[in-house]
Amino acid sequence: MKKRVLAIFLVMCGLMMVVAVVFADLKKGYYRPAELGSLRQTALIELSPDSNYQVSAYPVPGADLVPGDGRQEVQTYCNTCHSPIYVTMQPPLPAATWEAEVNKMNKAYGAAIPEDTTQKIIRYLQAHYTVENRTP
Ligand code: HEC
Repeated sequence: MKKRVLAIFLVMCGLMMVVAVVFADLKKGYYRPAELGSLRQTALIELSPDSNYQVSAYPVPGADLVPGDGRQEVQTYCNTCHSPIYVTMQPPLPAATWEAEVNKMNKAYGAAIPEDTTQKIIRYLQAHYTVENRTP
């Protein structure tokens, strides 16, 4: 019992000392370690005046969409946010799923494809990418 009281007393003394040191530092104005908060910038890169740069076309993975009425609309409108390869990488989907998919792009993701074009795209996808008619 005596040993436990002594141990508690020593722990309390230790804590008091830590608090005292922190308080003393705060009174001196040290609120954080000296290095914290300083950012070192890297040196600027030296550019040579005769540098050559080559820029080529952005590599867009080509989606081999089946030829048909509506293909161009898919390539144009469905390419705004992601490659139309999203169409070909799907498994053959039921017709209703394609309709829901295109509606989801419009409503949930804000594709804002005009209504008649939306219907054309749905017809195209249903004519070439369902379980019944998907070729590749
Ligand atoms: C406004 C941006 C936008 C447009 C335009 C768009 N999509 Fe998407 N699409 C998304 C986002 C966001 C996702 C989900 C995130 C991801 O997988 O990149 C997605 C995912 C998909 C998927 C994967 C399945 C899924 O539901 O996540 C398919 C298939 C798809 N889109 C088809 C189309 C077709 C077909 C069109 C043209 C009618 C189209 N998208 C146009 C934004 C768009």
